[in-house]
Amino acid sequence: MPRTYVDLPVSLDRGAPVALTVQLGDRLRTAMRDGTLKSGERLPSTRALARQLSISRTVVTEAYQQLYAEGWLDGRHGSGTYVADLVIHAPVTARSGSAVSGSVPALAGGGSAPSGGPAVPLPAGARGRGERVIDLRPGHPWVRDYDQAAWRRAWRKAADLPPGDRSDPYGVPRLREALAEHLRRTRAIAVGPEDIMVTRGTGNGLDLVAATLLSAGDRAGVEDPGYRVARNVFAARGAEIVPCPVDEDGVVVDGLPDDLRVLYTTPAHQYPLGGRLPISRRERLLDWARRTGAIIVEDDYDAEFRYDVAPLPALHGLDPDRVVLLGTLSKSLAPDIGVGWLVAAPDLLTAIVATRQDLSDRTSGPAQQAVAVMMERGDLDRHLRRMRLEYARRRAAVVDVLGPLVTGDTAGLHVMVELPGEIILSLLEEARERGVLLDSTLARHHHGEVRRHGLVIGYGSASLAEVRQGVAVVAELIGPRLADESRVAF
Ligand SMILES: Cc1ncc(COP(=O)(O)O)c(C=O)c1O
Repeated sequence: MPRTYVDLPVSLDRGAPVALTVQLGDRLRTAMRDGTLKSGERLPSTRALARQLSISRTVVTEAYQQLYAEGWLDGRHGSGTYVADLVIHAPVTARSGSAVSGSVPALAGGGSAPSGGPAVPLPAGARGRGERVIDLRPGHPWVRDYDQAAWRRAWRKAADLPPGDRSDPYGVPRLREALAEHLRRTRAIAVGPEDIMVTRGTGNGLDLVAATLLSAGDRAGVEDPGYRVARNVFAARGAEIVPCPVDEDGVVVDGLPDDLRVLYTTPAHQYPLGGRLPISRRERLLDWARRTGAIIVEDDYDAEFRYDVAPLPALHGLDPDRVVLLGTLSKSLAPDIGVGWLVAAPDLLTAIVATRQDLSDRTSGPAQQAVAVMMERGDLDRHLRRMRLEYARRRAAVVDVLGPLVTGDTAGLHVMVELPGEIILSLLEEARERGVLLDSTLARHHHGEVRRHGLVIGYGSASLAEVRQGVAVVAELIGPRLADESRVAF
């Protein structure tokens, strides 16, 4: 779609009792709905439109912000404001209509797909054979909107330095300084740069912990349901995987076996159920680890993203000798950068670093330098603040539509939707036919017996408009199925 700059056919009535911001928002919505403004078209700058309409720039900025929040517009840093990729969605069924109408904007093009037909002209992010899909699979952050100037500056600065003839196995000191500061501020962990090793991400950190601590046949506990990569990594290092049940609050401490060498857990936001481990359970978990000698591996993968209350301090802070903390930029910035961190007690960190050297494992020096620049200049914090607002909106859009079915804390980049097991496969298939990818079933996250069923829905890599459209389709598909099951009045 060519990015063209449009002349807006808008006029405002200064004498009307309706605020100019509201009027402008309404006019633009109407233009997008009736197709006068089309997906991908570029809107005038706030300055130009303010001049054209002889109104204050603040009025235009506020109207644009509101439309952005509603998912009508896409902003691209430094390069303008565009009409979002809008999708005509099929009319909702009478049953699910009450749940979705009002929360899904009537979309551009004015028409609706034929009822029951191949409903969704597939939206943004062309994939496969030119098809366009809404990707609601979990695990991916939003990378389509970032501060390009900050990104380029960081890499220019990194490029000023020559590549090293060897790499520091702990990581670039400057980045470890910045990380120590970040962890003190955001995770209440009192650590210095000497306590930190820079990894390529959680998977890399898990593997180095496993290679250091686990021998063939050692028993490694993993949350069940839980993050499959943790199971895979421990199993690849020869460990026997021990599934440890979780409930709404996180890992269940009572009944943990006494013979685990390590226990992998996600206390800030259990993956995938979404619970936050309460203080009392944290204390009991640490008591268990001290008594049995187990090392707890704390995966702090999305702790930056809480939308209701401040995050609880990391478990690591309560007992640095028992807990190895793993962090990553994979959610907060992008997995492609390949930077994360590992915090451990001095002796254990020394052992892990020795393992890393034995395996000739390292993190890219230039990538570390670039991340250090972004952290030092506050670019990462700014990005986090912006993304927190954006993800909060998307989560609210999901809850708006699927509310009664959503479980988990108000946090992160995914929600859990618990559903009867027998409806899930056909639901996934039909959603796919209608252009919505949802492949993450709860069953896939189980290692042992599958006790619960549902979908893990991610809103990281779909825009707000896409999330709205995608969950509207999900609601339409779920509604009649649950009616058959007579489970939830939806
Ligand atoms: C539970 C969990 N931990 C960690 C990660 C990130 O892992 P990495 O840093 O290896 O990209 C993810 C990404 O999806 C995740 O879901």
